[in-house]
Amino acid sequence: MAPQTSRIPEFYKKSYEERLQILKEQADLSDEEIHILRLHAAASFGTVSRMIENVVSVMFLPLGMATNFLINGEEYVIPMAVEESSVVAAACNAAKLARYSGGFKVSSTEPVMIGQVQLLGIEDFVTSKNTIFCYKDRILVLANAHDRVLVANGGGAIDLEIQVLDTKRGPMLIVYLLVNVCDAMGSNIVNTMVEGIAPFLEDLTGGYARLRVVSNYAVRRVVKATAIWKKEIIGAEVVEGVLDADALAFADPYRAATHNKGIMNGVDAVVIATGNDFRAVEAGAHSYAARNGLYQPLSTYYKNEEGDLVGELEMPLAIGIVGGITKSHPIAQLCLKILRVKSAQQLAEIIGAVGLAQNFAALRVLVREGLQRGHMRLHSKNMAGNVGAVGEEIDAIADRMVSEHCISAGRARELFEELKK
Ligand code: MEV
Repeated sequence: MAPQTSRIPEFYKKSYEERLQILKEQADLSDEEIHILRLHAAASFGTVSRMIENVVSVMFLPLGMATNFLINGEEYVIPMAVEESSVVAAACNAAKLARYSGGFKVSSTEPVMIGQVQLLGIEDFVTSKNTIFCYKDRILVLANAHDRVLVANGGGAIDLEIQVLDTKRGPMLIVYLLVNVCDAMGSNIVNTMVEGIAPFLEDLTGGYARLRVVSNYAVRRVVKATAIWKKEIIGAEVVEGVLDADALAFADPYRAATHNKGIMNGVDAVVIATGNDFRAVEAGAHSYAARNGLYQPLSTYYKNEEGDLVGELEMPLAIGIVGGITKSHPIAQLCLKILRVKSAQQLAEIIGAVGLAQNFAALRVLVREGLQRGHMRLHSKNMAGNVGAVGEEIDAIADRMVSEHCISAGRARELFEELKK
């Protein structure tokens, strides 16, 4: 049934029970369905209702732990929040295979984010550009006055760049403010700073500022991860197969998109588990993948002199361990504790390693038996669970569906009914 109207004045002011009642009527929900919303909100309504508006429940995801990760010589158990079956198992497996050659080596640049000020109505672009450069130091001081705590911690605005861009609305002067945001994701910090310097830029140029906002194309905050998978461990055929897959991804954006999706399976899962903004990370990743004018893979593979497979991943990772919900979300906080991370840079490097592991695991499966066998096995278990099977019933139904090559909700229901007889 379509909602009677979506115009619900002051929904945000209603009590929790009032909201549920309105939703029940609007969406024709049963008492059981309302109970599901209430049940999942029970433990955390207080916390989540402060995060967004109009909250009625919690959308939960499984939180799994990826084991076997050896990163820069340190052991890590890595929390991953993801709904897709086989992602966590695949990461564990790739990490285990990488241990034969010392695990993952990671590095990263300083956590520098970029903010933009769009200046319009400029009459003389050359003079405006020169004037801004002359006042660069004052602009940086002004920006830093907006976050003295960050500056005291060794961060702050460090530089600015200027570009004149030709756009469909005519030329524009864009000022890029570079800010070391230390352990924060940094969008709030940068947004405050670019809004703070915009009036001065207007005075200097005679123009007016339109957009003043952080860029998610975080090209100054890049992580590199590398690992070697030994030929004798993974087999020469897998080495060749992954190289073929890598070549296709570089030649074909259709494949590059899916190749990168495999990387983001791992990246997003850790980003979400640690309470970070996965949309920002996604936006950064895909814009970085297209930085050469063609959408390309974020990772690459080659053979070393021993014939082993070397994988390398390079991508921007704008994540934090302070600010946002990283401190207010109790599960995110626990995940950070489990990871034992001391800085945002360290967390970003771990996430880079997981992205590479996830990518290698997907390619290895693709070049061997293909995705569907393992995936459908897990999927068939989900389906068995969904029709009401529990414990051994799930395995029995899943095994039958796999052996019959018929994995569907309908068949799961039939088998469940058969079992119950
Ligand atoms: C599925 O979520 C991700 C893969 O399709 C990635 C890939 O094809 O490389 C397996």
